[in-house]
Amino acid sequence: MRTIKVGLLGFGTVGTGVVKNVQRNATVIQKRLGYGLELVRIADLDVETDRGVELGAGVLTTDVEDVISHPEIDIVVELIGGYEPAKSFILKAIANGKHIVTANKALMAVHGDEIIAAANRQGVSVMFEAAVGGGIPILSSIKENLCSNEFNSVLGVLNGTSNFILTKMTEDGSDFAPVLREAQELGYAEADPTFDIEGIDAAHKIALLSAICFGTSVDFGQVYTEGISQISAADIRFAAQMGYKIKLLAIGKNHGDQIEVRVHPTMLPGTYQLAGINGVFNAVRLIGDFVGPTLLYGSGAGMDATASAVMGDVMAIARDLNSGAQLRVPIMGYSADQVQSLPIKAMSEIVSYYYLRFTTLDRPGVLAEIAGCLGRYGISIQSMLQPEGHEGDSVPIVLMTHEAKEEDVSNALAEIGQLDSILQPTCLIRVEHDLD
Ligand code: NAP
Ligand code: HSE
Repeated sequence: MRTIKVGLLGFGTVGTGVVKNVQRNATVIQKRLGYGLELVRIADLDVETDRGVELGAGVLTTDVEDVISHPEIDIVVELIGGYEPAKSFILKAIANGKHIVTANKALMAVHGDEIIAAANRQGVSVMFEAAVGGGIPILSSIKENLCSNEFNSVLGVLNGTSNFILTKMTEDGSDFAPVLREAQELGYAEADPTFDIEGIDAAHKIALLSAICFGTSVDFGQVYTEGISQISAADIRFAAQMGYKIKLLAIGKNHGDQIEVRVHPTMLPGTYQLAGINGVFNAVRLIGDFVGPTLLYGSGAGMDATASAVMGDVMAIARDLNSGAQLRVPIMGYSADQVQSLPIKAMSEIVSYYYLRFTTLDRPGVLAEIAGCLGRYGISIQSMLQPEGHEGDSVPIVLMTHEAKEEDVSNALAEIGQLDSILQPTCLIRVEHDLD
């Protein structure tokens, strides 16, 4: 048994959490492994800022080479974020025979195939549990405990920042901007918060989850992504009146010959478990053919929860190293030669229920015009809400449809948008009912 040596790239929020975990839980880590784990080097651009942790002399460096080419380091943990230089650092570390742990979902979702191919050639591990769902042990659950299941769907509330914002808007009636600032101060938001708000971060995560669940590479450029910045207080209120909550839902579905991978605001019946996931918490709902519906829930972001996921990966690799195992669990959970390249279903082809809010003139015949147009495209109305009260000359008309094809809904809305009585672009929010 030998001490496993670890090097860190990036000493920011998550990097600091990892150092705290290694230091504060040194005893339990040693007891669980049966041998030591040593943080040998930490590289960051800034080695002056006080991060509230004590480090031995010579551990902190500004020289990344001192980590990725260090002769004694077994595992390199990348916590810089972004595409470059993180990708080049990881590829160089792999070429040097280092095992990799990263929390970098953007990099793995967009360039994962290249990194994984390099790691497979070199016979080293790449683990990225912290990239999806913060502290929730979701990837290892799919790859290990649930690996005898076929999965038909995986749905999740996967972005802590946007869930934090939607929750505060729903519960306190808060405005968008101050709640975003609070999430940034708490360390939840990405360096570029548009990744959180516009659904890109959740899209990175559902691309990785779908790949691991369904055994396919996922072309990230084909993932439909829509964020929460257009969600209004009125839509949150109308949703509540009809018994729904709005969540930024990440959706993966497996149709055998093609998959759905998409992220958008979604109305969920208020009684559903996913509708009750609040604040920075994340949850993932999977349906395996043997295990059935399974929900994993926990902190989706933040220093400590994310560090916990990073350290789980570090210790998994440490165990493999000391037992002589090599790539015991395939990086994407399927044998590398069995990974498919399934196409992603076009959005125009998906079928969903829809919430539609029209802003119209308050005059006779408007509802009939809208209903007539929807009817011509085969779209059936399930329920309707016309709240009392005007804003100037305009009134909202809110309709909930039965299941319809997205292409038909888009065509109908384009036609309805031409009517004189329609004053603003129509708000569309997809609705998920059939979670089984
Ligand atoms: P962060 O606080 O911005 O930390 C990144 C650190 O890397 C900063 O200290 C940064 O220094 C440093 N850095 C930047 N370029 C570098 C370079 N070329 N060489 C060495 N160090 C460099 O970010 P974070 O929140 O810890 O996130 C790290 C990763 O974890 C990201 O991939 C993120 O998506 C992921 N993640 C974060 C969370 C979370 O809750 N925060 C949760 C899950 C996953 P400067 O500040 O001086 O630029
Ligand atoms: N910015 C991300 C979030 C961090 O808010 O969920 C965790 O991946």
